[in-house]
Amino acid sequence: MSLKTLRQIRNLAGKRVLVRVDFNVPVKKGKVLEDSRLLASLSTITYLLEKKAKVILVTHRGRPEGIDKNLSIKPVAQRLQEILNLKFLGNTNTPQVEIFKQFSISNLEFSKYFEKINQTIHKMKNGQIIMLENIRFFADEKKDTNDFSKNLAGLGDMFVLDGFAVAHRDSGSVTGVATYLPSYAGLLLEKEIKGLTKVLQKPKSPFVVVLGGAKMETKIPVIKNLLPKCDYMLIGGGIVNTYLKAKGYKVGGSLVDKDFQKEVLKYCRSKKVIKPIDVVVGTFDGKKYGVVDINSKFKISNSKLMIFDIGPKTIKLYATYIKQAQTLVWNGAMGLFEQKPYDVGTLSIARLVASRSKGQAYGVIGGGETLQSMDMVGMTQDIDLVSTGGGAMLEFLSGKVLPGIKVLQK
Ligand code: 3PG
Repeated sequence: MSLKTLRQIRNLAGKRVLVRVDFNVPVKKGKVLEDSRLLASLSTITYLLEKKAKVILVTHRGRPEGIDKNLSIKPVAQRLQEILNLKFLGNTNTPQVEIFKQFSISNLEFSKYFEKINQTIHKMKNGQIIMLENIRFFADEKKDTNDFSKNLAGLGDMFVLDGFAVAHRDSGSVTGVATYLPSYAGLLLEKEIKGLTKVLQKPKSPFVVVLGGAKMETKIPVIKNLLPKCDYMLIGGGIVNTYLKAKGYKVGGSLVDKDFQKEVLKYCRSKKVIKPIDVVVGTFDGKKYGVVDINSKFKISNSKLMIFDIGPKTIKLYATYIKQAQTLVWNGAMGLFEQKPYDVGTLSIARLVASRSKGQAYGVIGGGETLQSMDMVGMTQDIDLVSTGGGAMLEFLSGKVLPGIKVLQK
């Protein structure tokens, strides 16, 4: 895949660069709880600032229906400012992140809104940043109307897509603007595409995939695409429950995706798919729980009991595969890791994957829960590629060409 990239642009000084990032991060009481997506795009932002471009940042937050003050970009801009202050510590010219303050967009047409922003942009000095409000406050962003995209494109001389995490969305600020402006991949986008392509096209064997989580509709295409390429696929989470149910076992109140039972069963017949040999079954609050072996007698009759984690024998079994991997991809929790005692499986996998990565294996992780659990064990820095994408990473690993990337191809 040959892409037009940021590094290929000559003479960025004074250019208005519209940068679509994905700063869709958790915020509580006006404070960003987790800022890894901001840090991930920092290389692109500082690159542009150092080249004296005028940086116009665009992102979404959540899925607002119209204007929602709770989903304002303000806390994100404040956090970005703090990060830049640290980055440029002692530098009297630390770039200030100016948020475009005209929030009263409720009574403004987007064309008028963009017109006002344009006036601000024209006053910007080289090497400054402006950040637009949550782009999803405009319904037209999602619909990707030509008018909207054209107006947004009017703010810049060129467009850079850096938010890999949103590259699977065919929307105005992702694909629409690329119709109207010379468009390039940012440094983060380039890095993620490179890393994931390496895994898809040239994985060193043994290639071990660890797949958990719940949303079966997003996992099945990944299983389908990666199964022929990998040596082993270790499964956990909702995939296991659905598999056991499809096999005819009673699984109590466990999370099962009925629509995908047949497909899960079909793929799990492959010898490459390594299934748990024991699971942790208990009540949701974790007050009552125990380890149950998966054999012909496996049965959970009580609907209040559910499978919440992989068991200790399974962790040991999975460790033998992870410890011999040369390529490792992990997406999705093994169970309800947010709650003790059901965190053991997921956190063990996190430690195993991180210990094997950077050196012995090329290790890639992605997805909100996966990143969160890696953070919990404090080993994120030990992973070769930490993808910022959840849905985007899964679609990429499914073999799809993401619309945001397609428009950047030469
Ligand atoms: C994400 O968090 O996965 C991205 O920001 C995309 O968000 P979306 O699923 O609301 O489009």
